[in-house]
Amino acid sequence: MNLEIEAGDFLCILGANGSGKSTLARLLNALLLPTEGQVLVDGMDTRDPSKTWPIRQAVGLVFQNPDNQIVGTVVEEDIAFGLENLGFPSPEIRRRVEWALEKVRMLSYRNHPPHMLSGGQKQRVAIAGILAMKPRCIVLDEPTSLLDPKGRGEVRELLLELNREGITIILITHLIEEAMLARRVLVLDQGKIALLGAPEEVLSKTDELRTYHLEPPLTVRLAQALASNGVRLPKKVMPVEELRNALCALRPKI
Ligand SMILES: Nc1ncnc2c1ncn2[C@@H]1O[C@H](COP(=O)(O)OP(=O)(O)OP(=O)(O)O)[C@@H](O)[C@H]1O
Ligand SMILES: [Mg+2]
Repeated sequence: MNLEIEAGDFLCILGANGSGKSTLARLLNALLLPTEGQVLVDGMDTRDPSKTWPIRQAVGLVFQNPDNQIVGTVVEEDIAFGLENLGFPSPEIRRRVEWALEKVRMLSYRNHPPHMLSGGQKQRVAIAGILAMKPRCIVLDEPTSLLDPKGRGEVRELLLELNREGITIILITHLIEEAMLARRVLVLDQGKIALLGAPEEVLSKTDELRTYHLEPPLTVRLAQALASNGVRLPKKVMPVEELRNALCALRPKI
């Protein structure tokens, strides 16, 4: 594949099981090195061993299960862990820990043991651990798939906020609705780019999505079913609220 991701992008990666999403994620921060081709992060080649740490600092990786990422017995210890390993001075560590916990709205939990937190809170702590390294890009591999709707909402809001502040977000998900959050959507199929474009463009290709074993979002399926029955709806991908408004606008005035 030939793929370029610009600074500040919000890219969502979709694809069936085994299509290569996690492999791509691991290639992006030198956890996995290409046997063919080249991966460049800010011009740094991931195969250059002298660039491994600058690359890992630039591109943070968040995994599906926060329990596998949290190492400390107290929230703030956990956030400090990576910074201590990198040899940051204590005042800088304290500043960054506070800043990162504030960002994910978990500062009041700084002295809590992580195992007492909810799944969504734990995932936010895991993200804070990455944020504390001040990465320019965060790659998240199915970060919401183990969370309940509330936890998912919290993580999604956080990702949008971080992206608004200029952090590049690469979100791998099998929850196709999450693709509507993104600026661009990439569909992988057997390690290759099957579709790449704006969410409106990619998510409206319902037949093609199905050939890649993806079920289009419910609102898209519903809007298409209504349109095929003569309901005049805008030909675009609409989230729930927009679809509701479009339908309400059609209702005869009483
Ligand atoms: N180190 C490796 N060597 C050879 N093949 C691998 C290696 N790692 C993964 N694979 C294979 O590459 C393919 C892509 O795997 P990957 O884990 O990237 O898929 P995925 O899209 O993340 O799937 P899922 O949705 O299940 O998480 C799979 O067929 C997997 O078995
Ligand atoms: Mg995977």
